[in-house]
Amino acid sequence: MEDTIRRKIGIAAGLIKTMRHVPNGLGELVHHITFGSFTFEPREGNKEPTYYFDSKSFASYNAVGLKNIGLLTFIVEELIGRRDEFLRLKAQGCKIRLSLAPLKTGDLKEMVQILLKYWLNIYDIVDEIEVNAACPNHRDEKDGRLHDVLAKDTVALKLLMMEGVDCPCPKAIKIAPNTTFECLEEIVRLSITYGYTMIVSGNTVLSDTPIDANERPRISVPKCGMGGAPLLDGAVAQVSTLHRIIDNWITDPPRVTPTVIACGGVKSANGAQKHIEAGAEVVQVATYYAEFRLNGIRDLVAELT
Ligand SMILES: Cc1cc2nc3c(=O)[nH]c(=O)nc-3n(C[C@H](O)[C@H](O)[C@H](O)COP(=O)(O)O)c2cc1C
Repeated sequence: MEDTIRRKIGIAAGLIKTMRHVPNGLGELVHHITFGSFTFEPREGNKEPTYYFDSKSFASYNAVGLKNIGLLTFIVEELIGRRDEFLRLKAQGCKIRLSLAPLKTGDLKEMVQILLKYWLNIYDIVDEIEVNAACPNHRDEKDGRLHDVLAKDTVALKLLMMEGVDCPCPKAIKIAPNTTFECLEEIVRLSITYGYTMIVSGNTVLSDTPIDANERPRISVPKCGMGGAPLLDGAVAQVSTLHRIIDNWITDPPRVTPTVIACGGVKSANGAQKHIEAGAEVVQVATYYAEFRLNGIRDLVAELT
């Protein structure tokens, strides 16, 4: 238990969608692994290529489009089917977190119902749920345009967060980067009201698809999500602001206030340390893990301790 508290690095959503993606040894190093994101229905995602990494700027560009097998299939095939492997991972001190990505009104409610239906089979595997309210690169089914980033619309966010109230385990809301102060305040208020005990601060930012030397697009769609080092300063500033808002929050009677999990821009122990000093309990990495995998995490964790 103490070891889990000391651990400061988590694997962000998007990189690990099945137990087959988990390398031996990762569970001994990280605070948590986020599986998913999973949508209500299975999703094919965008066509390849969907990922490009620019080593000069340490920026990743992705248009994976939430490719996944859907929450129900994941619960039945993975969590129940590979139960022993998940329990082994937990025995190593790693929390299991599921990222849910509701794409339309009602999806989160349905997903919570699926969790409740199977909860007796999975309650000892799943530690936390993370609701992804900030994905900038999935498509609008009707006209193929990008969705607006949900987390910047506090009315939409409120409706979404209300749908998650019956979730049977601790839950987090994952919010967009570069969110205004007023919006962050509202997110804290909504988290307290609807029982979200963690805020995951930061996702990719919307970007144009990078082009190669011959002006050909590097990935298959014109717009995508950018992660990696360019996000660091903004992401740290947002963690700091959120932490300040939460620290000054007074409720009468006292209520549990959310902790902050940082996400965005980490490419070294120094970046992770900045997030921790800004008030993050745990720091998630996505691009760094996509590029350096298990060995990278081993280095990062060693430098942080
Ligand atoms: C290949 C890839 C796929 C991603 N897929 C998801 C996803 O399914 N759900 C999600 O919430 N975030 C997803 N993200 C965003 C990351 O979880 C993270 O919020 C973002 O990349 C910023 O962190 P970073 O600077 O460490 O990359 C994805 C990122 C990458 C690089």
